[in-house]
Amino acid sequence: MTTKPANPTLDAVKAFAERFSRLLDERVTFDEKTPVTLAESIRYSLLAPGKRLRPFLVYQCGALCGANEEACYAPAAALEMIHAFSLIHDDLPAMDDDDLRRGRPTNHKVYGEAVAILAGDALVTLAFETLATKTLNREHIAPLVATLARTAGGEGMIGGQTLDIEGQQSETDNRKPPSLESVRRIHSTKTGALFECACRMGGIVAGADDQTLDRLSAFGLNLGLAFQIADDLLDVTASADDLGKKSGKDAEMGKQTYPASVGIERSRELAKSAVSAAIEAIRGISGDTAGLEALAEFAYRRDR
Ligand code: IPE
Ligand code: IPE
Ligand code: MG
Ligand code: MG
Ligand code: MG
Repeated sequence: MTTKPANPTLDAVKAFAERFSRLLDERVTFDEKTPVTLAESIRYSLLAPGKRLRPFLVYQCGALCGANEEACYAPAAALEMIHAFSLIHDDLPAMDDDDLRRGRPTNHKVYGEAVAILAGDALVTLAFETLATKTLNREHIAPLVATLARTAGGEGMIGGQTLDIEGQQSETDNRKPPSLESVRRIHSTKTGALFECACRMGGIVAGADDQTLDRLSAFGLNLGLAFQIADDLLDVTASADDLGKKSGKDAEMGKQTYPASVGIERSRELAKSAVSAAIEAIRGISGDTAGLEALAEFAYRRDR
């Protein structure tokens, strides 16, 4: 029998995910003013077993800069809502057309496309309502809202999703490898931006100075880039059982990915250099950064 070596980072991520999921379950509830199917569809996706890495980064970066733990809840929950919205819409037939997410049927498979689109829409408004009403220090509301809107919007995640869809090459297209510059832009925006958001929002609720916030942004952006390169690699190397979502999909759909651009080995090297850039950025902040450095390594070495 083989036993896996101890991995304190993985244990910490799992323990946090359990605690944070419980908080979401208790706090994100709906009364009769919200149509029952909409409420169910929102909770179906938001409470499905995700890794909760973006919320974990809010708490960890907040703690590094001296934030009160409860102050991290509103930004972490708001960001996870935006992430859940991005996943529901990413899986729609008009986008990646996926049937499996977090080990369960995708939202539109259960509730239909119209309700899935609307659940995504409602998660966006709920995210900003959460920041406006649940942020502990009112002075932090405006910078949190501005950060989430920028990183989720046209120059961040939504812009990146647009480039991802526009960059797809169909089988009849005589496919060419995408340029590294193009894939790097897609990955930094569609995924890097929300990781940047997580780390920066942790700094904001701690009242960190601008220089520290910029270091947290650089840490998150590079970590997010490594995370998406790992997602591309897992799509090639892992199974749907391991991932809780279909694999082998990117090549089938002609997606612009790191492996399609530069191959598997070079993708691994580039993910490692993004992790190194993340670590260099966070080391400029005083305090114990070891846990965050290990988390950056985990983002790349994870197996799901
Ligand atoms: C999936 O994100 C979408 C990507 C940016 C690759 P995660 O891998 O964080 O998904 P969950 O939240 O754990 O399901
Ligand atoms: C997703 O990229 C990025 C998002 C903003 C949702 P992918 O399309 O590769 O994510 P998965 O593999 O479906 O989770
Ligand atoms: Mg996609
Ligand atoms: Mg997808
Ligand atoms: Mg993917």
